[in-house]
Amino acid sequence: MTAHAAVLSRPAIQVRRLGLKISASVPKHFFADDPFLSAFYAAMSTVFPDGERFFIDSVRHYQKELSDPNLISEVRKFIGQEAHHGQEHEAFNEWLEEKGYPIAPVLKRVQEGLNMARQRLGPRQQLAMTLALEHFTAIMANQFLTRPEISEALHPEIRALFSWHAVEETEHKAVAYDVYQATGGGYWNRVLMMVQITMLFWMRITAITHAYLKSEGNGGLMRMLRGGWWLVGNPGPLRRLIPEYLDYFRPGFHPWQHDNRALIAPFQDELQDRVIARN
Ligand SMILES: [Fe+2]
Ligand SMILES: [Fe+2]
Repeated sequence: MTAHAAVLSRPAIQVRRLGLKISASVPKHFFADDPFLSAFYAAMSTVFPDGERFFIDSVRHYQKELSDPNLISEVRKFIGQEAHHGQEHEAFNEWLEEKGYPIAPVLKRVQEGLNMARQRLGPRQQLAMTLALEHFTAIMANQFLTRPEISEALHPEIRALFSWHAVEETEHKAVAYDVYQATGGGYWNRVLMMVQITMLFWMRITAITHAYLKSEGNGGLMRMLRGGWWLVGNPGPLRRLIPEYLDYFRPGFHPWQHDNRALIAPFQDELQDRVIARN
């Protein structure tokens, strides 16, 4: 049985345009009035647009090798969703810049890092990199949709962006993985890349969070340690992701072994008028 056939009933992947316009009145510290957590979410948003373009390109490279019509269709929807995520987060990043987050210099370093990956890694490794990052986005999206104490701490206008993104990341969480499997990707390449990406990704997010805090005079060690404790200690949302993160290292892992399709339904009505393409 192929990995794509392993879970028969997938949620429909729907491409929705959000058309985000965040009001100027939304405060700079949009996450519970907290500078660290706002900087952390801003850091995530900063890396999304270029990261998602990287995902699209790494999957697109293998598009012509696919024969399963369902997977071919899912890849098209995956590309549509990620392209829109990039656009919406670019709009959010512009708003962040207006609020004083130094987006431009950070973005330059993110782009340099991704360009280096494009130059140094072959297509298979680039796809493995996408798989690893898609696993992070999938498990963080799951947490975002299941733990309202996190999402409710965000300003409602910004929560709408992250909720929409989390729903679509859930819908397409297996697409890159299935492309990897269908085109002969192996276990060791997948997990060794995950080990590298885990270190690089979190080092980069920590560095960006610190840069944003420093730019507003909040970059002291105690602020970083307190914020870090919130993330990995108590309440520790990142620590709580560890079991799902480790699932990735099982040889027979597949993203839909964690069946969280039920999380999408509550958003269907809310997002219905945003749909521009569906299965
Ligand atoms: Fe995305
Ligand atoms: Fe994604």
